[in-house]
Amino acid sequence: MPTPTLDERLLEAATGTLELFGVYLGTRLGLYRSLAERGRLTAPELAEAAGIHPRYAQEWLEQQAVAGFVAVDDPSRPADARRYRLPADHVGVFVDPEHPAHLAPFADAVVGVGKVLDEVVEAYRTGGGVPYSHYGPEFRRGQGGMNRPAFASDLTGSWLPAAGVTERLSRPGARIADVGCGHGWSTIAMARAYPQAEVIGYDLDEASVAEARAHAEAAGVGARFVQADAQAVAADGPFDLVVVLEALHDMARPVEGLAAWRKALADGGSVIVVDEKVAATFTAPGDAIERLMYGWSIAHCLPASLAEQPSAGLGTVLREDDVRRLAAQAGFASTRVAEVDAGFFRVYRLEG
Ligand SMILES: C[S@@+](CC[C@H](N)C(=O)[O-])C[C@H]1O[C@@H](n2cnc3c(N)ncnc32)[C@H](O)[C@@H]1O
Repeated sequence: MPTPTLDERLLEAATGTLELFGVYLGTRLGLYRSLAERGRLTAPELAEAAGIHPRYAQEWLEQQAVAGFVAVDDPSRPADARRYRLPADHVGVFVDPEHPAHLAPFADAVVGVGKVLDEVVEAYRTGGGVPYSHYGPEFRRGQGGMNRPAFASDLTGSWLPAAGVTERLSRPGARIADVGCGHGWSTIAMARAYPQAEVIGYDLDEASVAEARAHAEAAGVGARFVQADAQAVAADGPFDLVVVLEALHDMARPVEGLAAWRKALADGGSVIVVDEKVAATFTAPGDAIERLMYGWSIAHCLPASLAEQPSAGLGTVLREDDVRRLAAQAGFASTRVAEVDAGFFRVYRLEG
């Protein structure tokens, strides 16, 4: 395929962004869920099922069908009589929150970023930041939802085993801290996988902690959540394991955080940092992961971390050498990368 020209790329990006808004509407209004649950629906039937206006139902279904997100039985029928359905292999992407292909939450996160872009513009001018809380419920839902499938299966199924830290987690009295836990899906997954362990999620963001508590209650697991700065973990030790999942690069004081988690470890305990699997060095143009991570960084992660001062201002693109340097500054004797395919992520084990 010929490489698209720059103007073609921007046109495609504009279309893709608008299609993400369609995904946002579909998840927020329960339209995909109605299609998944009810099967073939006309626009008036979808409107009735989801409680939306029929004219909007028609336009959204037509847009989704044109985009190839939903299927239409017979496009030549009158608009109100066409039947639409969610193909079976699209259900995971749009509806099942723990399906490995569940990428619909990206739409929530992008909408969350869009809502505060004026604040981001101002931050660029002043050097200030945009607090995580300003990105709102859409971003929290998007952030939690994007990582939920991997946390629900891979975190305890392959990442922690590959890092070699699971043996002591099944012992009675084991203790795990999940720092920067966000919506708590990782905390919940670890509480399920290691029922003997006490699992505590920490996050600075009050709304995230409240929502994480609700998720744990709904899941029926006994994970506990604390609204506190990452450094508060030091006073709550000893922990057999401290995990920091896609959160180190967001922290204004990462070295102080790492030092606090090191201090909180029981003898022989470890800190697991999971952060972006970006390239070893800055190269341009970059690959798809670099492009995605820089995209989050310019509009969310960097402004959010600069909202606290003083701040290391790391940004999303935390490279392997950066993690090693930060860990060494915090006093860790060793940083090893676990040999495991963790998708967008790299899994680091910090010890000593
Ligand atoms: C990118 S989100 C990751 C959330 C979750 N671990 C996940 O992967 O879905 C980063 C989280 O770190 C939290 N955070 C940032 N700085 C923090 C700090 N100093 N102490 C505790 N939490 C912090 C934010 O509130 C946010 O929930």
